[in-house]
Amino acid sequence: MSLEGKKIGLVLTGSFCTFERVFHAAEELVKLGAEVTPIMSSNAASIKSRFGTPEEFIKRLVEITGRDVIKTIEDAEPIGPKKLFDLIAVAPCTGNTLAKLAHGITDTPATMAVKSHVRNGRPVLIAVSTNDGLAAAAKNIGTLQNYRNFYFVPYRQDDAEGKPSSTVADFTKLPEAADAALQGKQLQPTLLAPKEKKE
Ligand SMILES: Cc1cc2nc3c(=O)[nH]c(=O)nc-3n(C[C@H](O)[C@H](O)[C@H](O)COP(=O)(O)O)c2cc1C
Repeated sequence: MSLEGKKIGLVLTGSFCTFERVFHAAEELVKLGAEVTPIMSSNAASIKSRFGTPEEFIKRLVEITGRDVIKTIEDAEPIGPKKLFDLIAVAPCTGNTLAKLAHGITDTPATMAVKSHVRNGRPVLIAVSTNDGLAAAAKNIGTLQNYRNFYFVPYRQDDAEGKPSSTVADFTKLPEAADAALQGKQLQPTLLAPKEKKE
């Protein structure tokens, strides 16, 4: 598989526990020849948590991609008019951003990037990571899966016993799902079996 010359906007929203997995996926995209531009929601670019500081995350993204991070609505707005990307991947995608995308709300750099990009009829790839994927966010996942030009990185329940409504994408499949989405296809199976529980 090659993504040589493909221009990919990688949108990170505030599921901080998955950032490390997304950084690995970004490294894979770059190795496959993609030109990756990072974009962060305002919360992703400003919240400090036990998973790290915004400064550390931004530094990592610039190192991996060789490009500055888009982190304002005004910097995300030209994405559509200038046809900057072949594909936008929202990875990780929070329950909050899923809800906004499903309802046409555009008040963050993340949602602005997607809105601006989809007007060109180009693909959007969503990698969910939310504790309410089978609860409050379920209808929004369903809505987006039914939208033209929206594709999903295959996902699963990540802790069926401990967090029964939680769903998380398998970020190792992001490059393959991106390649499929660029061809107008959903990587299958979309829904993965839960991992075997460790005894
Ligand atoms: C440490 C931490 C971890 C979080 N993890 C998640 C998560 O995995 N999934 C999620 O949907 N929200 C998570 N949140 C909540 C979101 O960051 C919050 O809903 C925020 O408003 C999302 O904004 P955004 O979608 O614009 O990035 C987390 C928040 C914090 C502080």
